[in-house]
Amino acid sequence: MTAVPISLGRAAPQIPPGAVPDPAAGLVDTHGRVHRDLRISLTDRCSLRCTYCMPEQGNEWLARTSILTTDEIVEIAEVATSLGIRTFRLTGGEPLLRTDIVDVVRRVAAISGPDGPVEVAMTTNGIRLAEVLPDLIAAGLTRLNISIDTIDRERFAALTRRDRLDDVLEGIAAAAASDLKPLKLNAVAMRGVNDDQLADLVAFAMDVGAQLRFIEQMPLDSGHTWDRSSMVTREEILEALSERWSLEPVPGRGGAPAEKWRIDGGPHEVGVIASVTAPFCGACDRLRLTADGQFRNCLFSLTEYDVTTAVRGMPVGAALEDRQRVIAEILHACVLGKLPGHAINDPSFLQPARGMNAIGG
Ligand code: 5AD
Ligand code: SF4
Repeated sequence: MTAVPISLGRAAPQIPPGAVPDPAAGLVDTHGRVHRDLRISLTDRCSLRCTYCMPEQGNEWLARTSILTTDEIVEIAEVATSLGIRTFRLTGGEPLLRTDIVDVVRRVAAISGPDGPVEVAMTTNGIRLAEVLPDLIAAGLTRLNISIDTIDRERFAALTRRDRLDDVLEGIAAAAASDLKPLKLNAVAMRGVNDDQLADLVAFAMDVGAQLRFIEQMPLDSGHTWDRSSMVTREEILEALSERWSLEPVPGRGGAPAEKWRIDGGPHEVGVIASVTAPFCGACDRLRLTADGQFRNCLFSLTEYDVTTAVRGMPVGAALEDRQRVIAEILHACVLGKLPGHAINDPSFLQPARGMNAIGG
């Protein structure tokens, strides 16, 4: 059975003739990029409503029955590992809203590939984290990113439309006190929202022993309200921070999305993820699995590769190797369909239909 790409607006990228997947070669695309990182969205639901992510009301949620079960996630993760994936990042929506989150972490962390056990990281908004962190660590979680865009209570409430800053700070404190290092905090920089407090956020991160990473706001909100003029650029972020500190670039970025700078000679560092003004697609090693089981080769792709329908449609009692072969074929098709880069800066750019909460950050 071959994968059927679902086109969400633009023609599906053509898979070059003769590009037959070679399982031994791993997940290599037609531009030579090797994929090692799979981000799995565990749910599209969230305890917050960040303005750059979803509307206050009227968001269309995925049907509960279409959300991947834990068995399905583990089966896909096992096949992905056999093809060379080494790191899984669990995202959402808010992954901690999933009631079986500890079980998901435990079962994914138990997977071993040719290079040993996989890494399991998580991106969370921090709510409920303090309560579940010990169990997540015992289950095998290895790294944590927490999103926090402001430490001003009123602004937090306006930006996330929920008055939950204290819960987030509690989660950050628990993570900072744990052995999960380095702890990374993500902040989306926005004009007129937090751009006058960027250095304060960095100072807060330094205080708790975490590394702050600013993300340029991307056209990925499910309400399609992104506007280039409200985006704060990498240059502006660096300018604002330079008013307080001296910044020295840290060499050796590799395929990492964040460029890093040492603050006042170190040891603290700050990162900037300039997806819009300085895209890093050439070094991208990431793939995504949406909460409803579609593989995606890029946040901005308009094409999804439906693994769930294919696997759920197989006859009851299908041999394990047949199920695994179908998953591997669809994943290979997804990788082979990957374009050299996103086209946010191109006049023909079309925003994906789904928002970040459904795609997985
Ligand atoms: N642009 C940039 N970052 C975003 N995130 C969510 N939506 C956007 C957007 N439109 C961030 C969250 C979180 C991570 C998963 O992605 O703040 O840190
Ligand atoms: Fe939730 Fe993250 Fe979206 Fe905010 S950005 S609404 S925390 S999924």
